[in-house]
Amino acid sequence: MKIGVFDSGAGGEAVAATLRELLPHAVVSTASDREHVPYGSRSDAEVLHLTDRAIQPLLRAGCEVIVLACNTATAAAVEHLRQDYPATPFVGLEPMVKPASAITRSKSIIVCATPATLRSRRYQRLKDTWGGGVNIVEPDCADWAAAIERGEPETIDLEPLRLLVQQRAADVVVLGCTHYHWIKHRVQQAAGAEVTVLEPTDAIAAQIRRVTAAAAGR
Ligand code: DGL
Repeated sequence: MKIGVFDSGAGGEAVAATLRELLPHAVVSTASDREHVPYGSRSDAEVLHLTDRAIQPLLRAGCEVIVLACNTATAAAVEHLRQDYPATPFVGLEPMVKPASAITRSKSIIVCATPATLRSRRYQRLKDTWGGGVNIVEPDCADWAAAIERGEPETIDLEPLRLLVQQRAADVVVLGCTHYHWIKHRVQQAAGAEVTVLEPTDAIAAQIRRVTAAAAGR
């Protein structure tokens, strides 16, 4: 099975590494767009255009499924790409509002994501559909992806996040940007051991298994 993984930058490598562990028989290729990362402060039209261009090598390589390992690209582009390339299944990533809302006991969750993801219609829909009765707090993470991309994740100040978790009595933190997977450990430390930090790589692997099984059965 050939899986293509796309992200604007370093987030895709984090997802690809876990997919290689979870799906050892798959060949996982990655594509990124280091020239234009971060996508999170760009317009939807720009993100769509850049994503479409950047996934071309994966399409040419004949990937049986393409994972948009980028919440920002998923929000802006996945519906268009599914229409434009109907023969290729796309697995998109979006902030785990549904599982977070299901497990929170304090009814207070924190979603860390890029500005483009947070303002997207897809994300608003997610909140409307699954976030009822839950207080969803969205801290400013606008600089995080760029710091991770520069190889300086330690410069991200997580003290505001720690305070927010306490002030809002949040018991779940959602990593809604794959770049942040690289600092999951630090986020967990800042949030505290009793807080659940969610990111979707396991769910993506399950979704890929479903998509490829469905394709094989056709
Ligand atoms: N890794 C991407 C995501 O999941 C975004 C990083 C960026 O701003 O390019 O949203």
